[in-house]
Amino acid sequence: MLDDQLKELRARFDAALAQATDAKTLDAVRVTFLGRSGEITALRRGIGKLPPAERPGAGKIINEAVEAMEAALAQAQSHLASRAFAADLSNRIDVTFPSIPPQAGSIHPIRRVLEDACRYFQQHGFAVVLGPEIEPEYYNFDALNIPPDHPAREGFDSFFLTDNLLLRPHTSPMQIRTMQQHRPPVAIVTPGKCYRRDAVDARHLFQFHQIEGLLVGEDVTMAHLKGMLTGMCRELFGTQQQVRFRPSFFPFTEPSAEVDTTCPLCRNEGVQCRMCGGSGWIELGGSGMVHPNVLRNMDYDPDVYSGWAFGFGIERMALVRYDVDDIRRFYENDPDFLKQLA
Ligand code: PHE
Repeated sequence: MLDDQLKELRARFDAALAQATDAKTLDAVRVTFLGRSGEITALRRGIGKLPPAERPGAGKIINEAVEAMEAALAQAQSHLASRAFAADLSNRIDVTFPSIPPQAGSIHPIRRVLEDACRYFQQHGFAVVLGPEIEPEYYNFDALNIPPDHPAREGFDSFFLTDNLLLRPHTSPMQIRTMQQHRPPVAIVTPGKCYRRDAVDARHLFQFHQIEGLLVGEDVTMAHLKGMLTGMCRELFGTQQQVRFRPSFFPFTEPSAEVDTTCPLCRNEGVQCRMCGGSGWIELGGSGMVHPNVLRNMDYDPDVYSGWAFGFGIERMALVRYDVDDIRRFYENDPDFLKQLA
């Protein structure tokens, strides 16, 4: 009897729930069936008229029915809420609006300088070659006319891996490897990483890049060296940048010159400049005419052949080219910095 009544009531309740399309009608359903003066309450009132033995059972059945109805109501409420939310979203969001473009990367400034410098030399007939970063002493020093007890060895302040092997402190070993494999004329540039136990500051890193150049042939002169390096600086830095050749010493070149350019930080007028120490110039690298001993080590006859070589710091070139105030910035990987140079 009560069972049938509940079943019939539940059917009407379900039908009413299915009809409800918003929170208000849903609440009306709740009031009608489960409210204080709703149908369930009416059923409960009827319990008093049942024979005493049936009363506890009847209360239990009604409670179970109420629980099930409340659950169905809660589910209907959450369905309605999520449907309303979705409708709201599609009103507010224009799905045809273009999305935010993904951030594109760019070529790192060091890479760019390296490639542009190589390209300059390629346009002048030089080949680009690459070499190992770990080299024996022979390639780093001995073949370059730096004997074991030579004080210049210390100037390269190297990271040794074993008694004989070290991280190359310069790209000059590739001069030797190239001359071992080729007879003159030789015209190469060789860019790559170098390592030195240098204290890091605004213009020094312990890992950096160099580009080395080597030209050997007949009648190769220092004038040609000067012309090529000046040309590269013009091409990379523009014509406003001054370049000077300052007499210097390297065991593997004679005569030798270091090449300086206007300090990018103080532009030649810095008394307390932390980049150039007040000199107004920063050094790009070394250069000179290949020493006859080096040619002889390679079985090149110094009476027939002459050559020049240079080794420039690529980070230094990038400082100048992009007017950067500190060499460390190139390795901090700050996207805002890199974006400015992209
Ligand atoms: N290897 C030298 C250095 O790293 C630079 C250099 C290269 C000088 C070639 C002369 C010729 O300091």
